Amino acid sequence: MQNDLIIRAARGEKTERSPVWVMRQAGRILPEYRELRASLSGFKELVETPDLAAEVTVQPVDILGVDAAIIFSDILVIPDAMGLPYEMIKGKGPHFPEVVKRKSDIEKLNVINGEELTYVYDAIRETVKRLNGRVPVIGFAGAPFTILCYMIEGQGSKTFSNARKWLHANPKESHMLLEKITTSTINYLKLQIEAGVSLYQVFDSWAGVLSEELYREFCMPYLNRIAQEVNSVPNIVFAKGAHFAMEDLMSSSYNAVGLDWTMDPKFIRAINPSKVLQGNLDPTLLYASDDVVVQKTNEMLRSFAGGGHIANLGHGVYPDTDWRKVKLFIDTIKSSKN
Ligand code: CP3
Repeated sequence: MQNDLIIRAARGEKTERSPVWVMRQAGRILPEYRELRASLSGFKELVETPDLAAEVTVQPVDILGVDAAIIFSDILVIPDAMGLPYEMIKGKGPHFPEVVKRKSDIEKLNVINGEELTYVYDAIRETVKRLNGRVPVIGFAGAPFTILCYMIEGQGSKTFSNARKWLHANPKESHMLLEKITTSTINYLKLQIEAGVSLYQVFDSWAGVLSEELYREFCMPYLNRIAQEVNSVPNIVFAKGAHFAMEDLMSSSYNAVGLDWTMDPKFIRAINPSKVLQGNLDPTLLYASDDVVVQKTNEMLRSFAGGGHIANLGHGVYPDTDWRKVKLFIDTIKSSKN
């Protein structure tokens, strides 16, 4: 591997500078992505065609100069493969025609164990081939709770109150569902590693709608099982908005913990100084002038000083961000020194 900075940083080794990648770097912002996307019938066609998915995965390495590629896919391929197909509706986002309503719906779901997501593994193999050792490929999956949210709710939501109601009304069934998602996710991540990913991130995007008590009961045990059972490459856990979960995550067996932009690295670093942190520039800062972007990126780097760091935004880059600002953010990090 010509550039293994992110692997070394994730393992907790001292590096010459912080490695950098950007959540949602593939798709969303690059004109080259938009052009390809416009020529296709939809998002799923792109995700399920390995050659095209590989092309889009490599674009940010070529154009933005990031230190890692993240495979172009979606967290929703897991419910899809388990038996709840998603649709991606233009301008609206994901939609599930069928959702989990009762115990018998959970009993019908498959546990993934190999063949179901061949298109993802093929896309990873093709990406590794095209990158030819330039940078590592990051694999990913949604955290079991975030996947449960979509399986119950059937679409995005600000509060995921139907999913939260379900945890309270059907705690036993919730655990049954989370078990099935977790086993599927473990098998899926192991096959991603076999296909060539060098590290993986678990996205708990909707963690912030829970309380500490619910997080301890319905999230941590499953996140821990994933980290313990998929441990042949370094891993990152990102639980957006979950301030209450930071003590547990910082003492979990994940190598790195992602922070959103509302979290203070100094405060979180103090919980466990040996843990690597990832993050956390507010993605809306990329709408500021160039001077401000450079200044705030350098301030962000300083706020992580004194321990392991992987530079990133505090959440995915927004779709209407000017890609040149993203490149400025990346170039600023690449010209810094530890
Ligand atoms: O990071 C990357 O660039 C790799 C690709 C990636 C996508 N989705 C592609 C995508 C990744 C890592 C994801 C993860 C994902 N998907 C998450 C967790 C990350 C986060 O932001 O918190 C979530 C919650 C989803 C579910 C999802 N997929 C939503 C809510 C939407 C609609 C809104 C949007 O654009 O994010 C998607 C669609 C989606 N996933 C697109 C892309 C490029 C846009 C689809 C299009 O081009 O039509």
